[in-house]
Amino acid sequence: MEIKRAMNLPKGTLMCVVGARPNFMKIAPIMAALEGSVPLSLVHTGQHYDTRMQTLFFQQLGIPEPDINLEVGSGSHSWQTAEIMQRFEPVVEAATPAAVLVVGDVNSTIACALVAAKEQIPVIHVEAGLRSFDRSMPEEINRVLTDQLARLLFTTERTARDNLLREGVEEHRIHFVGNVMIDSLLKHRSKAVAPREILLRSKGDVGVDACASGYAVLTLHRPANVDDTPTLRGILSLLQEVSERIPVIFPVHPRTAAALERSGLHQALEQMSGVFCMPPVGYLEMLGLMNKARLVLTDSGGMQEETTALGIPCITLRDNTERPITVEEGTNTVTGVAPERVLAVLDDILATGGKAGRIPELWDGRASLRIKEVLGDWIR
Ligand code: UD1
Repeated sequence: MEIKRAMNLPKGTLMCVVGARPNFMKIAPIMAALEGSVPLSLVHTGQHYDTRMQTLFFQQLGIPEPDINLEVGSGSHSWQTAEIMQRFEPVVEAATPAAVLVVGDVNSTIACALVAAKEQIPVIHVEAGLRSFDRSMPEEINRVLTDQLARLLFTTERTARDNLLREGVEEHRIHFVGNVMIDSLLKHRSKAVAPREILLRSKGDVGVDACASGYAVLTLHRPANVDDTPTLRGILSLLQEVSERIPVIFPVHPRTAAALERSGLHQALEQMSGVFCMPPVGYLEMLGLMNKARLVLTDSGGMQEETTALGIPCITLRDNTERPITVEEGTNTVTGVAPERVLAVLDDILATGGKAGRIPELWDGRASLRIKEVLGDWIR
């Protein structure tokens, strides 16, 4: 069925790939900028499939309906990567795209880049060169390998170029264009949903009064934080302490919800009166939650950048970051999950407002236009 659809696609498109939630806010501005100048097609691998993890994002970000949906769904890393490859290969063979454009660092990114490279189709990687130097992170493997396969690499911060050069990527392939995710943020910021509205929608009036005079937002989904029960238990006792200082709004990622259920820890969480849990929220909702928060606690990559762009203090619940500019210039502090460290930074933010931060170079809402310029020259 999908192969038939692929055969019907015009030949020689720039084939854009999305799969998981953090891809959507990156692909939207790229496709909008390129529309009309390059023939485009869109493949969704189906790595994320819940309405709240994808459909909502397509609607809110105005992403066109995918031409092809590989409907791969969930599985172990190797299974998922292999399955995407097996399903993407015949699509590429039937559609013969001029190039395949991938974003970010999820399993869909490396799987589709690898297929394209093996089919001798040029790979374009947006958000290249970020490194946490932590190979225990699945995304780090995806980043390193995708960058080795890419013919054209677009970077979001200057250190990315140094990382790529060190790994032998030819300099003329690297283009520092800024951050497409911030293109989306600046475009949609004025449409962000008010936190009160989000609480009302998902919890009735529970939490509305408590959060009215300030709240923190928490997101958590890294395997290293949620898959191991003792670690997750430790994070929940930290959360208890955080919530005694400031109410916490916590949209719970499906991976985390599953881990809480499996370990029985969901009961402890439900008893925390200062923590307001809800299912994953849409893009405009998350933007609204971050925009008005006193601070954000997260292990997400994207939110470290979004909080820097919004000027909201961010505590990163990981031991490292692949986005060092958010620490050096932005509002981010990388703490890990040790309670004394997190609470010390939290107390400082609550007392002083935290690091002031500044907007990093080229995070100006025009990254996708720069990509369009480079691509125009490259295609010619
Ligand atoms: C993936 C990315 C991660 C990104 C995150 C954002 C990789 C290696 N990881 O992690 O970099 O930060 O997306 O969310 O690609 N699930 C659902 N519904 C969905 C999707 C997932 O219930 O629509 C559940 C399933 O139980 C699944 C689990 O979440 O097994 C994990 O999903 P998966 O796509 O494997 O990884 P994420 O943890 O979401």
